[in-house]
Amino acid sequence: MKIPPVKGTRDFYPSEMARRNWIVDGWKTASICNGFEEYDGPIFEYLKMFQVKSGDEIVEQLFSLQDRGGRDLAIRPEITPTLARMVNQQINSLPRPIKWFSVPRLCRAERPQKGRLREFFQWNIDIIGVDSPEADAEVIFTSLDYLRRTGLTSEDIRARISSRRLLAAVLGAISIPEDGFDAMYALLDKKAKLPPETFEALLREQVSDSDQARTIMDFMALDSVDEIERVVPLDENVEGAIANLKSVFASLDLMGVTDFCVFDPGIVRGLAYYTGVVFEVHDIVGELRAICGGGRYDNLLRDFGGPAIPATGMGMGDCVLEILLHEKGLLDSQVPRRHLEYFVACADSESEPAMYEITAKIRAEGHSANFSYKRGGLSKQLKEAASQKAQRCIIIGQEYSDKQELVIKDMTTGDQTSTGADAFLTTLRSD
Ligand code: HAM
Repeated sequence: MKIPPVKGTRDFYPSEMARRNWIVDGWKTASICNGFEEYDGPIFEYLKMFQVKSGDEIVEQLFSLQDRGGRDLAIRPEITPTLARMVNQQINSLPRPIKWFSVPRLCRAERPQKGRLREFFQWNIDIIGVDSPEADAEVIFTSLDYLRRTGLTSEDIRARISSRRLLAAVLGAISIPEDGFDAMYALLDKKAKLPPETFEALLREQVSDSDQARTIMDFMALDSVDEIERVVPLDENVEGAIANLKSVFASLDLMGVTDFCVFDPGIVRGLAYYTGVVFEVHDIVGELRAICGGGRYDNLLRDFGGPAIPATGMGMGDCVLEILLHEKGLLDSQVPRRHLEYFVACADSESEPAMYEITAKIRAEGHSANFSYKRGGLSKQLKEAASQKAQRCIIIGQEYSDKQELVIKDMTTGDQTSTGADAFLTTLRSD
């Protein structure tokens, strides 16, 4: 009976694993350089954890299960609720600001498509306990910092930045009732995916007053923060939200990533918990889904029973990223090849015991080494060494050397040198 892999999952053979490790290592390096500490949580949580605040889309995509005690659980589709729970649990003992990162394996029952799978890895960075715009800027900067380290430039990607706080202030300023905001966010979030006429028709269905609809259309068409006051009636809330967004852009400018950043009121984000600055990074051509997304969520800790503590963060999946890096020729050229330092071969059967002994000693010094399980001649062993991409081959055997001597063959240049076994092991120790 042949059982296929589950739809939307991936098998990581060694070459795919090498790519995944390279991506994850890059995420970790960028996190640490930008001052974040690593955490993790469980792969499943109580189902209600994700029903409270994640938003309808995520709730529809949950993989849920019941444990033997009849408790409803779900495999995590995101880690932000777990983070909020963990921080709330130790809120009084954790030094603030909390700057944490994680690379969880997540599952969402999505329809598998380019860049969207049912199981994926997602880099998360979050800053908790800071309400100033510098923290939002730092999250955006850290995301871009990683992407820059991979070799992507401002010709390849854009951080599209907006603000839910601003959107709420604009809707309030034109007298849209507050209980209609969530429905508005859901519609505005779809703008980029809809033909303009369809979007306008849906907007006019939801907002019957034509002046209100016109202002929303004009606001959504802006591409500069400076122009907001031209199309939106100013009040205290709108002014506050504009000033906040301007501070974020000013910090990003000081950090040297202005070229990557634009204001885009079309970024609303699907998740229900965002309250302030929101952003997504996209490929410039716009063919792929978002590379990453995040924003400020100042009420989530309170909604999970903790104190009202401000928070901001982002998540970046490995799928779209990998597609983009591959398209730009930045993936296989940078993923390290298999790294086997030594292959130990024996030229005659009398040397077999020495082959095991030397292999074990090389490994004990912390270097990688293999030998052949087959009892073939030396040339077959050398071929095997080449297929395992060994850097050097150690040849043992009387035909080549006396018992105390080893021949070391550099597998790239073909150069051979001989050295005493003890001297060789001593150099390994000092490496
Ligand atoms: P999200 O927008 O749902 O946000 O996901 C963030 C990123 O995760 C996406 O931009 C994409 O790279 C990746 N992603 C999402 N779904 C899939 C999928 N089915 N397959 C592959 N990749 C996917 C969040 O998850 C928030 N919790 C992020 C956050 C952290 N906000 C604040 N802190």
